[in-house]
Amino acid sequence: MSETIAFKPETLEQVHKIISRYPEGRQKSALIPILHVAQKEFGGWLDVPVMDYVAQILNIKPIEVYEVATFYTMFNMKPVGKYVLEVCRTGPCMVSGSEKILNHIRTKLNIKDGETTADGLFTLKPAECLGACGYAPMMQLGKFYHENLTIEKVDEILELCRQGAVALD
Ligand code: FES
Repeated sequence: MSETIAFKPETLEQVHKIISRYPEGRQKSALIPILHVAQKEFGGWLDVPVMDYVAQILNIKPIEVYEVATFYTMFNMKPVGKYVLEVCRTGPCMVSGSEKILNHIRTKLNIKDGETTADGLFTLKPAECLGACGYAPMMQLGKFYHENLTIEKVDEILELCRQGAVALD
């Protein structure tokens, strides 16, 4: 584990609070919420030393952390941009034009799925159903949903992101 990987004291306190929600010996149950905290604290993605650090805190094997972190798409396994555009492409969003939205973003930002713009601002990450099918097509940006997307609406959101005017949490 790298010497430099450590939560800030206030984050560590938050982590211990999360662990305390679970019975003794069941600390592994805190893994997903702690991975969210770690991803936020360490630059938006989970590098191997970060996952090893989480394993050490929970007193579990690193492989147990890797298995979970690589299974769920909300965890990033490589560096991402400040704004991760998680565009849903499952059935209802697909029939409502998600591919058109995705193509527009790919062309406008000149990136492919999973890539990040050269300025480090945007990552495009097609997603599976995010549970807002009634508002399709939609995308998630940080903790927030942007729904009933149109090309114009996407352009507006991208512009607001450039201005730093889009909330992520
Ligand atoms: Fe897109 Fe469910 S299909 S949110």
